[in-house]
Amino acid sequence: MTKESSPGTARAVAHANIALAKYWGKSERGDNLTAVPSLSLTLDALTTRSQVSFDASLKSDEVILGGKTLGGRELTRVTELLDRVRKAAGESRFARVDSINNFPTAAGLASSASGFAALAVAARAAAGLPASDKDASKLARQSSASAARSIFEGFVELLEDTDSAEPVAPSSHFDVCMLVAIVQQERKDVSSTGGMEQTRLTSPYYRGWLEAAPPLFREIKQALLARDFERLAWGMERSTLLMHASMFGADPPIVYFKPTSVELIHAIKNRRAGGHPEAFTLDAGPNVKVLTLASHAAKTEEFLLRVPGVTRVIVCRPGPRAALLSLDGPLSEARRTDAAP
Ligand code: DP6
Repeated sequence: MTKESSPGTARAVAHANIALAKYWGKSERGDNLTAVPSLSLTLDALTTRSQVSFDASLKSDEVILGGKTLGGRELTRVTELLDRVRKAAGESRFARVDSINNFPTAAGLASSASGFAALAVAARAAAGLPASDKDASKLARQSSASAARSIFEGFVELLEDTDSAEPVAPSSHFDVCMLVAIVQQERKDVSSTGGMEQTRLTSPYYRGWLEAAPPLFREIKQALLARDFERLAWGMERSTLLMHASMFGADPPIVYFKPTSVELIHAIKNRRAGGHPEAFTLDAGPNVKVLTLASHAAKTEEFLLRVPGVTRVIVCRPGPRAALLSLDGPLSEARRTDAAP
């Protein structure tokens, strides 16, 4: 038996994604279904690699992220995913999970998206479940809704009250870049899960967000399919600000922005008015992501690096789908086997 086919162990890689049309809020139907449709771009430069080994000698699941053993809620989230896999596969062993992000964790850089997508693909394969994008996307979504989108390459949608994400257009569809301007690397105070629940329960603007998000999602999708950068820029910024406005209305308020985030919002707005094809978006954190045409990325990067408070810029292109990795060598260097999850 070759090492690759040894039962109980598998590795996978998945890439982070950034929403062009945002998801914020859970459906009343439960199961971590989303209340609004969302549309994202998978990013090539931000990856999580994950190895899952079911092992009869373990007394409980062990989860290591970036060399650190997880406990508490972080561990429970992983264990819940593993429980679903064990149930589906008739697997009774606990698992050892080793994951590495190549970017800062939990600072609004979609680490849960790439993390749970890689984990879902690796865990299903390690348990011997058949390759299925639909099932891997559903499994990832049940842990973190945005993770459902990281199963697929390029431009991806997750409709409201829907189990799995679906591809909208491949990476080659639109030659854009997303530049991630890091203004803070530390972990955020309010998790996205907690923040959206607080918004739902206490913000008078949450109702407005629920009404505005679906037509805006359709606008953004049409703009993307038409490769209409101006319209896409307008829609993505509007989706971003409507989502954050709903958080400002929560009690206590949720404000992820830092001074540099606000500086960048103004600067990008002015630059677009001056002819630069650039648009901003922010998620549950202060880092600013700037969408631009690939032909303009070097100019955008040069600008962002000059802004005081920006400590690092990561230039991302539309990225590939999640995939299994070979079991040879260290996890950080393992190559894609290009088998579907
Ligand atoms: C602001 O997927 O992190 O990034 O489902 O509770 O894990 P959970 O939330 P998560 O929320 C992401 C919200 C967002 C917008 C988006 O990615 O659509």
